[in-house]
Amino acid sequence: MGSPRDYSTSNKVQKCKILPIIEEFSENLKGICGKCMDVGCGPGDITKDFLLPSLDSNAQIIGTDISESMIKYANKTLSDEKRLHFEVLDIQTKNLPKKYISEFDHIFSFHTLQWCNDIRQAFRNMYQMLRPNGTILLYIIASHDLCEVYKILEQNIRFAQYIPDTMKNIFPFHGSNNARKDLKELLQSVGFTIHHCSLRDASYSEEKLRQFLNSIISLLTFLEDMPQNLMEEFKNTLTCEFLKKKIDYKSIYNNQELTLDLYEVLVVYAQKI
Ligand SMILES: C[S@@+](CC[C@H](N)C(=O)[O-])C[C@H]1O[C@@H](n2cnc3c(N)ncnc32)[C@H](O)[C@@H]1O
Repeated sequence: MGSPRDYSTSNKVQKCKILPIIEEFSENLKGICGKCMDVGCGPGDITKDFLLPSLDSNAQIIGTDISESMIKYANKTLSDEKRLHFEVLDIQTKNLPKKYISEFDHIFSFHTLQWCNDIRQAFRNMYQMLRPNGTILLYIIASHDLCEVYKILEQNIRFAQYIPDTMKNIFPFHGSNNARKDLKELLQSVGFTIHHCSLRDASYSEEKLRQFLNSIISLLTFLEDMPQNLMEEFKNTLTCEFLKKKIDYKSIYNNQELTLDLYEVLVVYAQKI
C-alpha cells in the first residue's frame, strides 16, 4: 500500500489525534525501556517524532508495515541506527516470523487495525510477539462515514475486481452495536488483560477535508492498477459521497468555511500477564 510522501504530507489529522493519546498514557509509556514495535507505521514520521520520545531513552522501536514502499521510504528518510528501524510485516500473517516471537516489551498501533479483515489474527500475533508483562496501546477507528462509502464502492463490480481480498471486508467494528464490548472480549479471548478500553467520539474540521481525503486515497494503492478513467471515477465518488454526509459551517473565530467530520475511535491499553 501507499504513496509514502503523499501520506506524510497529508496526515495532519492523524498527527493531531495521536499527541493527546500519548500524553494521556505518558505515565505508562515513559518507563518502557526495551524493544517496542509500531504496527502500521506508514512513512514512520509519527513513530520517530511522537512514539520514540514518549518512551525511556533506552527504548528501541521497530516500525512495521505491510507496505514495502512505506518501509523503504521510512528506512531511507528516518532510520536511526541505534533506536529506530523499519521492517515489512503483515500484522495479519498466519506465519509470524520466529524472530518476533516473545521479543517485545510494548506494541503501539495507531490508525491501522481498522484496515484488517482478520483482526483476531492481528491480536494473536501481537500477543505472541510480546514478552510476559508486555503492553499494547492501540487507537482504532471504530466507525466513520468513510467506512460506509468504502463499503459501497467495494460492492461496485467495476471497482471490486481491482480491490485485493486483503482490502475487502475491512473496518471490523463499523456497524457494531457495542464496539467497546466486542473489542474487549476479543482481546480477552486472545489472552490480554485490559487496563483501559474506551469508545470515544472524535471530530475533525478542515476546509473541505481535502488533506484528510488525500491521506486516505494515498493508502489505496490498488488504485494504481485501475485504468485512469476508472481510478478518477473511484476517487471522485469516494470524495463526493463522503462530503455529502458532512456538515459545512462557518467558524466563529475567523469566518473560515469548514467541514465537520464526526466519527468514533477505540482506545486500548492492555497487557500480556
Ligand atoms: C493510516 S496509516 C497509519 C500510519 C500511522 N500509524 C498513523 O497513525 O498515521 C495505516 C497504515 O497501516 C498499514 N497497514 C494496513 N494493513 C496492514 C497490515 N495488515 N499489516 C501492517 N500494516 C498494515 C498501511 O500500509 C498504512 O501504512
